[in-house]
Amino acid sequence: MSTDDQISLFNFNSDPEPTSPPVPQGFNPELIPTSAKIPIPPGTYQSMEQMKVHCNECQRCGLAAGRTHAVVGEGNLQAPIMIVGEGPGQTEDETGRPFVGRSGELLDKILASVHLSRHENVFIGNVVKCRPPENRTPTADEAEACKGYLLEQIRLINPKIILLTGATALRGLLGIKQGITKVRGQWVERDDRLYMPIFHPAYLLRNPSRDTGSPKWLMWQDIQAVRTKLDELISGSEPDEEF
Ligand code: URA
Repeated sequence: MSTDDQISLFNFNSDPEPTSPPVPQGFNPELIPTSAKIPIPPGTYQSMEQMKVHCNECQRCGLAAGRTHAVVGEGNLQAPIMIVGEGPGQTEDETGRPFVGRSGELLDKILASVHLSRHENVFIGNVVKCRPPENRTPTADEAEACKGYLLEQIRLINPKIILLTGATALRGLLGIKQGITKVRGQWVERDDRLYMPIFHPAYLLRNPSRDTGSPKWLMWQDIQAVRTKLDELISGSEPDEEF
């Protein structure tokens, strides 16, 4: 199929869906944007289910070759907070779920420390949906090939706050090339949304100290700031005393 054919076939967006059915209606799973030259325009997907179908057929970059499952994400589709990781590891690739290894356990604990849960209050996604070999960092081209999916996820969920875990998420989504240690904990406002770069949980696993000023201690400051900001945004009032 030529690129031109793909572009016209990919334009299946004229019949908006009112709901998110398990088998997406008005959606032809054969119309896959197999070339990274074909953009994924805003408004392409009406549901995360549609995107999941495409991601599991996607050939936009070389990561497709090693894919068992595309890891599109999980959580509340109306969550006020979205968390963006780097990319699936082995367990994620096997299960199709994000952050299910040791990093995921730690992420759940971090969220629980401010009374948030991955299923109720957040949606967790990744810069790339397919596992990089040997868990290497995704290349800039891989991140770019997958970026349209991430932007569509943000459009569909419409979170108030987006947490960027680590430098890959920070660079992949906002194009900021600074080190995470420099910018973590600082709010970045773009297009009416608040982004906060935070340490990746895997980095915290490698740096277990809880001493004042340590990465874990800094993460504790950051997640409390996130909780405070969320409470302010939701109620317009000061946060609960327990936080
Ligand atoms: N699991 C994910 O889904 N993403 C990461 O960045 C790390 C582990």
